[in-house]
Amino acid sequence: MLVLGIESSCDETAAAIIQGGCRLLSNIIASQIETHRPFGGVVPEIASREHLIKIVEVVNQACEKAEVKLSDLDGIAVTYGPGLVGSLLVGVCYAKSLSYVLKKPLVGVNHLEGHIYSVVFENPPIEYPALAMVVSGGHTSIYFMPEAEKYKLIGHTRDDASGEAYDKVAKLLGLGYPGGPIIDRLAHKGNKDLAPLVFSLPRMEDNRYDFSFSGLKTAVLRYVKEQGIEALAKGAEPTEEICNLAASFQHSAVHSLIVPLRKAITDFQPKTIILSGGVACNSALRMEAKSLSEKMKIPLYYPSPILTTDNGAMIAAAGYPKLLRGERVGLELTATSSLKLQNLDLPSEDKPKGKIRYRLS
Ligand code: KG4
Ligand code: ZN
Repeated sequence: MLVLGIESSCDETAAAIIQGGCRLLSNIIASQIETHRPFGGVVPEIASREHLIKIVEVVNQACEKAEVKLSDLDGIAVTYGPGLVGSLLVGVCYAKSLSYVLKKPLVGVNHLEGHIYSVVFENPPIEYPALAMVVSGGHTSIYFMPEAEKYKLIGHTRDDASGEAYDKVAKLLGLGYPGGPIIDRLAHKGNKDLAPLVFSLPRMEDNRYDFSFSGLKTAVLRYVKEQGIEALAKGAEPTEEICNLAASFQHSAVHSLIVPLRKAITDFQPKTIILSGGVACNSALRMEAKSLSEKMKIPLYYPSPILTTDNGAMIAAAGYPKLLRGERVGLELTATSSLKLQNLDLPSEDKPKGKIRYRLS
C-alpha cells in the first residue's frame, strides 16, 4: 500500500511516500527557517504564503524521488491539526483536491500522533502499554498508550512548550532561530556551574506529570540582567559566559522534562518509552532518557534526526493503519488549530499505582 503524507502545520512544507506502513520511499522537507530567521520566530501569515508557493513542488518531488506516479497512490494522509490554521489549511486543501481529482482515499492525521508514529514506524514493533512523550516547539506532553492508536493525555505543559522555551532564551541571547539546536551545541562548550540559575521545579499539586518552563525562563532573564549580559550582535562568536548560560539552561530544561517523565514511568510501568518531536533531537535529553530507560530496564525509542522535526513520513505512517482499515474523510475535513490528541478514558485498572500528589524541593 502506497501512502502519501502531507504536513504543513507550522514552518515546514513536507511530503513523503511510504510503502507497507514502514518503508520510506521519499521524504521531502522544504524548511522555511531562513524566511522566519530575521523575525526570531514563525510569522504565521508568511508561513501560509510560503506553504502555498511550495506545496505542489514538494508533493511532485516526493513522487519523483519515490518513482511513483500520483495515480499509483493507495491513499493520502494529511495533518489537519493542531498548528497554525493558515498553514494547516494549505495542506488540507491540497490533499482534499488531490483526493477528489485522483479518487484516492483520504484521512486526516493529528500532528502529535504523527510525531509518535515517527518512532513507531522506524523501530521494531512497539510493545504496549507505552508512554509517549511529545516535546516540540508547540507541545510538551506525555501520553499513556495501552495499545496502538489509543491515547490518554496524562501530563502537559502549563505554560510554554519546551522548544518554545529554547527558542525564547536563544532570542533573548541573540543566538538566532530556531534556538534549540544552537543552545544544544553551545551547551557542550560551556560549564553549567559557572552560570547558576536560581530556579526550582514548580509544585504540581494536582498533576504530577505536568511541566512548566516559565520559572526557568524568568531565572534566565534575571541572570542576564544581574550579570549585564548583552545579546550577541549578528554574526558575533558566542562568549564564554553565554556558553555557560546555555549549559545551565539546558541542564535545567532537561531536568524539567525528565522529572515528570520519571514519575510517569514509575507509576505506569510501561513496556516502551517513546520520545518524539523536535526537542527529542536534544543531545542531553536523549542521554538522560537513555540512562532512565537503562536504569528502569524499559526500551526507549526516538526517531532518527531527519524524522524528529516536522515531516510528511510520520503523517503517512500515522495515516497508514487508518487507511488500511477503511477509514475515510471527505471534503468536510477542515484545519483544526487546537485539535487534541486524546481518545481514551483510563479504565480504573490502568490508573497509576503510585502516589498521586507530590512535592519537589
Ligand atoms: O517538532 P518540531 O519540528 O515542530 C513543532 O511541532 O513544534 O519542533 C521544533 C522545535 C523548535 O522549538 C526547536 O528549537 C526545537 O524543536 N529543537 C530543539 C533541538 N532541535 C530542535 N530543542 C532542543 N534541542 C535540540 N537539539
Ligand atoms: Zn511538530
